[in-house]
This record gives sequence, structure tokens and C-alpha cells, in this order.
Amino acid sequence: MTDRRGPDADFEEVLRYLKESRGFDFTGYKRSSLMRRVRHRMAQIGIDDDIDYIDHLQVNADEFNALFNTILINVTGFFRDAEAWDHLRDEVVPTLLAERGPDDPVRVWSAGCASGEEAYSLAMVLAEALGPDRFRRRVKIYATDVDDEALAHARQAVYHDRELQGVPADLVTRYFEPQDGRHAFRKDLRRSVIFGRNDLVQDAPISRIDLLVCRNTLMYFNQETQAKILGRFHFALLPRGVLFLGKAEMLLSHSRIFDPIDLKRRIFRKVVGGSEGPAHLVTQALVQDRRFDVGGLDQLREHAFSAGPVAQVVVTGDDVLALANRQAETMFGLSAKDIGRPLRDLELSYRPVELRGHVEQSRAERRAVRIKEIEWVRPPGESLWLEIHLNPLIAADNTVLGVSIVFHDVTAARRLLDDLEYANRQLESAYEELQSTNEELETTNEELQSTVEELETTNEELQSTNEELETMNEELQSTNDELQNINDTLRERTGELDQVNEFLESILTSLRAGVVVLDLEMRVIAWNRGAEELWGLRRDEAENEHLLNLDIGLPVADLRPVVRQALADASFLAEVKVAAVNRKGREVVVRVVCSSLRSNAVRSNGAILVMEQQA
Ligand SMILES: C[S@@+](CC[C@H](N)C(=O)[O-])C[C@H]1O[C@@H](n2cnc3c(N)ncnc32)[C@H](O)[C@@H]1O
Repeated sequence: MTDRRGPDADFEEVLRYLKESRGFDFTGYKRSSLMRRVRHRMAQIGIDDDIDYIDHLQVNADEFNALFNTILINVTGFFRDAEAWDHLRDEVVPTLLAERGPDDPVRVWSAGCASGEEAYSLAMVLAEALGPDRFRRRVKIYATDVDDEALAHARQAVYHDRELQGVPADLVTRYFEPQDGRHAFRKDLRRSVIFGRNDLVQDAPISRIDLLVCRNTLMYFNQETQAKILGRFHFALLPRGVLFLGKAEMLLSHSRIFDPIDLKRRIFRKVVGGSEGPAHLVTQALVQDRRFDVGGLDQLREHAFSAGPVAQVVVTGDDVLALANRQAETMFGLSAKDIGRPLRDLELSYRPVELRGHVEQSRAERRAVRIKEIEWVRPPGESLWLEIHLNPLIAADNTVLGVSIVFHDVTAARRLLDDLEYANRQLESAYEELQSTNEELETTNEELQSTVEELETTNEELQSTNEELETMNEELQSTNDELQNINDTLRERTGELDQVNEFLESILTSLRAGVVVLDLEMRVIAWNRGAEELWGLRRDEAENEHLLNLDIGLPVADLRPVVRQALADASFLAEVKVAAVNRKGREVVVRVVCSSLRSNAVRSNGAILVMEQQA
């Protein structure tokens, strides 16, 4: 039995199951849209409970694919957001190529390439800039996605008319070849585009990239995962490498590793981390300026130093605290007693930051050192943010007199920056949310469209079935009419036959002589009134009986030879006289004429016996 918990915990359980059973980690995706997509899939198959859905995933091998297709939104297009692509073509790519030698490789990565339109758009832009020959020699476009189905489509490089809507007509002519009513990307250039599966969350990045295009993909991940992926992109790019994002992806909160080239079009350049810049600060303050003779200068200097608005201390070349201004005394609890003490004996040497290493560095390297973003948590839990500047104090004879240490309180600026970053993040994620919802809507719209198309197809099928039924109906109707005609004809014929029968019957009845008709088996098929009167046997008693079985006063066995001949020979006719006993019991002589019953001249169908009592 699975235990039932809260809805969110159950949803996490679904994600955990997918990770463990399929190795796919959705936990870094934005929950709101991820949940919407999973729920959408569940609704499609009529499941509303997450745990039931896990059961369903366990027993239906194909369900993962269906879920995957629902979650991964593959909306894409050639030159999607045309304005940004125009800028890439007109400004970014020419600069990028100009910064490289004429034979240098150009390595491009389309990350989250979906069905390949983005990768082939890049191929067209670069082929236009370099010409096809140099493109083939220099360019490699790595196009990756996590969706194998989308990659399979991309590898085919074949697109419908409507998918090429974003491609200018002259590019369609130059870069696509007709193939079975569709358009295939030119094979010679296609070879420079390499497709592969790469999960941005889990897999290692491709390296030494000049241009990294990752559009409308980052926005599906939460902040933490975005930061992780951007770290990998930073690693993937060469120095001065360019990152091209989607229009909803602003990257404001990662400004330390990427500089915007064009924020509006979301084009950034990699920031290369390095030293703090050359140090050449020679502190003139301690150099005796002999041009003016100002009285009491030492005292003046001391007061000026002491009154400085920023906390400052000076340590000598031997690491002894030489000076501390008022701000420093207040901030670090120093007093006149501490002047002359070794720095290492003071709390200041290790709080708020380990200072001695930096002092030593500044002195040894004779350069300014800046320690950024030091957080100092002071009782009762209040945070102070400091930026510490260390400057070597170098005398005219080039000896190092000591090091000046200035503690700038940047708490207010830091708070502002935090607030700004927070606001930026909010803005970014609201914008991304909007864009991803938009793409979801596009997908839903496409789904609706295909449902409408299915309904239209079903409708057309029904219509044609209907037409077939109508045709069949018409055929049945005409068959029916024909049958009716046949029936009428039959009825007419039956009427005629009835008349003929009646006519024959009346002939037979009107004959005074007894008439008996036999079939080929010698069974009685007609027995007229004359026969009834002669032998006292009713018609219904005689018909269907064998001649030889008739119990009448006629010695029927004597007639057998002539009857046989009449049955065998169609032209047979004979007359015999036989002694018999009639119905009244009187002995009489009966004249019997036996002839064959003919249907044609060749065959006999039976025999006719005409019997008359002799006077
Ligand atoms: C909306 S499409 C963007 C396609 C194209 N870049 C564009 O802008 O037209 C997002 C793509 O990101 C892919 N994707 C989602 N999660 C991914 C991941 N973890 N690793 C790589 N690609 C992923 C999806 O499969 C989908 O093809």
C-alpha cells in the first residue's frame, strides 16, 4: 500500500520516481509550469492522483515518452524573433569573424535545439557570411537537446512549407532542395551540423565555443539550475565568446560572468576573470613636499588623517600599527594604546577578514589590493559589508614604508544592489514565466488544432461513409424495384398458370371417360371425375398412389406392360380391352387407351390412361 501525503510531497515523489527509474532529473525545472504540464498529461489519461500516476508509469512502458513529450515544449522556428537574428547576422557574426583569423575554426553550440530549425538558421547565417566553401572548412555547429524525438526530426533536416515560413524566399531557394513535397536542407552544408543528446542539467558542456545559442530553454529552469547551467556556458565559451539567449532571458543577475553586448536582443559576451588591474599607486601623502613651507604641517596632517570619513589604518613595513583614524578606532575598538603594537596581536588582523596575507601581498608586489564584499556580522546580528583597499606606501627612494588599509562601508550600496538583484530576478522570472506560459499556450493551441484536424478528418470519413451508404441505398432500392418487377411478372404468370390449370381441370372434368395421368414412377398425378365414377375412388385417395397399389376393380397389373412402354417411348399409343368390376360391382369390359405423356417428341414424361366402360 502506498502511503498518501500532501499533494506537493506526492508531486515530488513523481519527480523522484522519474529520476530513479529513467535517470531524468526534472527537479531543476520551474515547479509551476512543470506541475501544469504533468497535470495536463494526467488529465489526458483520466488520472488525478500523483501516486496513482506513478502506478500507471510503472505498468505502462510508453507513458514516460508521452509525459516527456508533454513536459518538453518543442516550440521553435527558423529565425525565431527575426529582429534579434538580423542583429546577430549584421553585427555580431561579422565582429566575431573579424576577431578570428581567416582559417580559424568557428565553433557554434545550439543548446536546446528542438527539431533543428535554430541550428539550420545558424548554418544559413554563417554560410552567408563566409560563403559555402569556407563554411564547410571552418564551421562546426553542435546542436543538442535532451529530447530524442526532436533530435530525430532535426537530423532528417526535412521541413514542410509552413515550417519554412520564417525563411526568406531567396534563402529557401539557395539552402533547401525539394524532397517529396517538402524541403531538405542542403546536404553539403548539413554535414557541418552535428546533432547529439545533451542534458544541460547533468551533462558536461561542449568546449571552445565561439558562439553559444541557447534560446527559450533556460526559462524552464529555476534560478539555481539556471545559475549552474550558466556556469557551464561560461566554461564552454572561449574568451570573448558570445552567448545568444531568448527574448525572455535577460541574465541581469549573472552580470558578473557575462557582459551584455546588446541587452535588448539578449546578446552577451563572456567576462574573463582576472587580476584587479595594475598597481602603481605611490602614496604622495608621505612624501615630503619641499616646495611649500607650511608651518605645523605634521599636526595638520595628523588631524586631517584622523578626521577622515572612512576608517583607515596604516601599518609599517614591520607590520606594526602606526596610525589609526577616528573612524577606525570606533569601528574596530582601537585606542592610542594599540599604536605601536604588532598587527598580529590585534583582533583587526583576523576580523572581519584575515588581513596579514593581503598586507604582505600588497607590500611584496607593491600594488593595490582590493578585498571585495566582506560581510562582518556584529552583535546583535547586524551585518556590515566592507570593501577593503590596501595600498603600499612607497618612499621616494623606492622603499616600502608601510601599507595603508582603508575600510569602505558599502552596506547601503550592497543592500541596494541586493534589492536590485532581487527585483531583477523577480522581473526575469515573471518575464520567463510569461514566455513559457506563452509557449505552453502555443503547444496547447497546436494540440487543439490537431484535435480539430482529427475531427475534420473523422467528419470527412463520416461524410464519405454516408455517401457510400447513400449509393448502397440507391442500389438496394433499384434491386428492390427489380425484385418487385420480377414479383409482378411471377404473379402475372401464376395467374396465367392458374387459368391454364383451371382450363385443363375443366377439360379433364368434362370428359366422360375416366382419365388417369401417371408420372415416370407410375404414381397417379391426375384422376378425373370419370375415373372417380368408374372405380368409386376419390381423387384425393388416388393421387400420389402407385398405379399397382390402387385397390379398384381394374386389374392394374395387366396394364403394366403397356404403361411401361408408354413411359419409355414418347410416341407410344395402344389400346387394350380388359375385364373389370365397376364401382357398382358389375362385371364389365373396359377399353383402355394408353399413350405416353410427352413434353417434346423425344422424351416421355409419363403415361395417360383413358378408360371407357363398353356397353
Ligand atoms: C522551447 S524549445 C526552444 C527551441 C529553440 N531553442 C528555439 O528557441 O526556438 C526548448 C527546448 O529545450 C529542450 N530542453 C528541455 N530541457 C532540457 C535539458 N535538460 N537539456 C537540454 N535541452 C532541454 C526541450 O527539449 C526543447 O526542445
